[in-house]
Amino acid sequence: MDKRTLPQVIGVASGKGGAGKTTVAINLAVALALRGQKVMLLDADLGMANAQIALGAHAPFNISHVLNGSKTLQEVLVTTAQGVRLVPGASGLRNIAALDTAQIATMIRAFDGLDEPVDYLVVDVAAGIAPAVLEFMAACQRRFVVVCDQPSSIADAYGLIKVMSTEQSLDEIYLIPNMVGNAQEGRQLYRRLNDVCTRFLGVSIRYLNAIEGDELVLQALRKYQSVMDFAPGSAAARDFRSLAEAVTQLPPVQSASGRMQFFMERMLQVPPVE
Ligand SMILES: Nc1ncnc2c1ncn2[C@@H]1O[C@H](COP(=O)(O)OP(=O)(O)OP(=O)(O)O)[C@@H](O)[C@H]1O
Ligand SMILES: [Mg+2]
Repeated sequence: MDKRTLPQVIGVASGKGGAGKTTVAINLAVALALRGQKVMLLDADLGMANAQIALGAHAPFNISHVLNGSKTLQEVLVTTAQGVRLVPGASGLRNIAALDTAQIATMIRAFDGLDEPVDYLVVDVAAGIAPAVLEFMAACQRRFVVVCDQPSSIADAYGLIKVMSTEQSLDEIYLIPNMVGNAQEGRQLYRRLNDVCTRFLGVSIRYLNAIEGDELVLQALRKYQSVMDFAPGSAAARDFRSLAEAVTQLPPVQSASGRMQFFMERMLQVPPVE
């Protein structure tokens, strides 16, 4: 490696549960890995721990062991078949909303000690707008909001964007319409939501790529695989490939915002490995 690694940290949230955060996080991670990127996936949804199941990964330990101090982050990391480095979530441990900010800080700081090269860290955050969710989103450089074309999903996405942008002053918010009929519907959904954000919040959000609703996503999940692996020729896999491409084309966010501990802050400072 002849250059310094600058991990790009992406938080995936949705406001409303079930919009497709885990699906987007795992398939984006796999699609980025297939493009040759070094990808780490953090399952920060402590209630469900879906990511390891959805990727068919065997994980003896998880983030709860890091939180209680019995394991280091290095010890809980597993590598999936696609080469994604997965930090497993803590299934059924407790609701993320119940974690206090000190515990969240412990978790975020655990990344400071990691010294392996990572191009992208994708964080699958829990549903809702609990302080812990916002803490994670604030620690990321980019925020991806997954939304479906349903009134409750749109309302909750708007609520999440509102608190992130007005109360937390976070920018770099991108919309990923999921389970849409086609790309055009995705863009329309983006325009509708962006219009409301511009009008009522005075902020604009960015568009990335929509993901079609695809039965093969559900079939893949039943087989404990990403749709990228299970059905590479599917519409959803095609959309995840374009999402990954769009992500790699985003200019790297270079600076820590300074507002809080930054995932892998230390990695930005380690000297290049020859
Ligand atoms: N593009 C898609 N096409 C078809 N089904 C999808 C798509 N995206 C997600 N799903 C399905 O919708 C359900 C919810 O998706 P997922 O678990 O990714 O949502 P989530 O936002 O992570 O939910 P939670 O809030 O419970 O963590 C799953 O059964 C998933 O397989
Ligand atoms: Mg999930």
